Amino acid sequence: MNILFRQGRVLDPARGVDQVADVLIVDGCLQAIQPALELGCERPGELRQVDARGKWIVPGLVDMHVHLREPGEEYKETIASGTRAAVAGGYTAVACMPNTKPVNDNAAVTRFILERAREQGSCRVYPVGAISTGSAGESLAEFGELREAGVVAVSDDGRPVMNSLLMRRALEYAKIFDLLVISHAEDLHLSRGGLMNEGPISTAQGLQGIPNTAEEVMVARDLLLAEWTGSRLHIAHVSTAGSVRLIRDAKGRGVAVTAETAPHYFCLNDEALATFDPLYKVNPPLRRPADVEAIRQGLQDGTIDAVATDHAPHSSVEKDIEFEYAANGIIGLESALPLILDLVREGLLSASEAIAKVSCNPARILGIPAGVLVTGRPADLTVIDPEAAYTLDSQAFQSKSRNCPFHGRRVQGRVEMTLVQGRVVFGHRA
Ligand code: DOR
Repeated sequence: MNILFRQGRVLDPARGVDQVADVLIVDGCLQAIQPALELGCERPGELRQVDARGKWIVPGLVDMHVHLREPGEEYKETIASGTRAAVAGGYTAVACMPNTKPVNDNAAVTRFILERAREQGSCRVYPVGAISTGSAGESLAEFGELREAGVVAVSDDGRPVMNSLLMRRALEYAKIFDLLVISHAEDLHLSRGGLMNEGPISTAQGLQGIPNTAEEVMVARDLLLAEWTGSRLHIAHVSTAGSVRLIRDAKGRGVAVTAETAPHYFCLNDEALATFDPLYKVNPPLRRPADVEAIRQGLQDGTIDAVATDHAPHSSVEKDIEFEYAANGIIGLESALPLILDLVREGLLSASEAIAKVSCNPARILGIPAGVLVTGRPADLTVIDPEAAYTLDSQAFQSKSRNCPFHGRRVQGRVEMTLVQGRVVFGHRA
């Protein structure tokens, strides 16, 4: 099926495009983007025309941090359900973290994920390999083998690499294999036993806290190691004002560092924990309002390059229990876009800057061919209705899990259609 989108607002931040245009897709590829396309004798036989007036046409969104849970925890999510959630959220490419069971620390697991994604996936899946064997933090995984099998980055996400020598070696070896190292910055000695952010709320609740410094000392360490080794470093799920400041300073010195945050770190703060609702339990924890403000500033001034979801599905067995025992994590694939668009309505980011944080920026950081609209290339794109107002309903999500603290929230901005390689993989209206 060939498709012609008529008169959409084409927003392609990588190429500096923001204009009303027609977009023609033929045989799965972007054929033309022009202000007003005349269909001549080359007119393709079967053509679906879509009125895109008032809609945004953007590069397929890229989520550089998701947990698909397969292999091993298919009752929480599978590659099939997770990528269905992704395309419903406007994403055409996701990078999946290695904390599966078994951990993705070898070629067999990487190949399994890629094969499953090819067979059952709705969008492109880019596996992230582990830094250390079993993500146990003791010995390095085989980066060469992982790279050859198809990983785009390495991370022990879910856990930090506590051993500084191992992190140094990881950065050095990653450079040889042109792999990105993604840091889950957490000092386990400082965070141990913590259930939420350390501050007045944790004191009032009588819950043990996780201080900002648990994140910041590791951000500082990893920045120093990246500077020393000259390797590329990416800081995952940035949550504190101090981390933003450290990353900003390092970027100013020319350190090859990039950073991401997640919507819950710019939309929510630790006051939500006053309810003891485990839906708000996440690692790193929701922080103080001043941290939220610093994250927003970091997004605005470019210190934080990308918004990822850290989509972390958990079943009710792990989540719908006493706060103390509940698992950390928030699902995000089907709620992120309208929360990001709030930043545009609030004047913090331009439309183009907001889309860049979920398209060309993460694609560039991961080194994957995505996040830009190029004629002749596979048509991965997302059509957004920026005005549509609705209530987020996690019961209707494609994800297998329901741990979404934004359920019931009134939002604005909806994914109308998602295309991967010219194929409509999600349509709000069938
Ligand atoms: O809240 C979190 N959940 N943080 C992590 O780092 C890991 C994730 C998970 O895998 O559930």
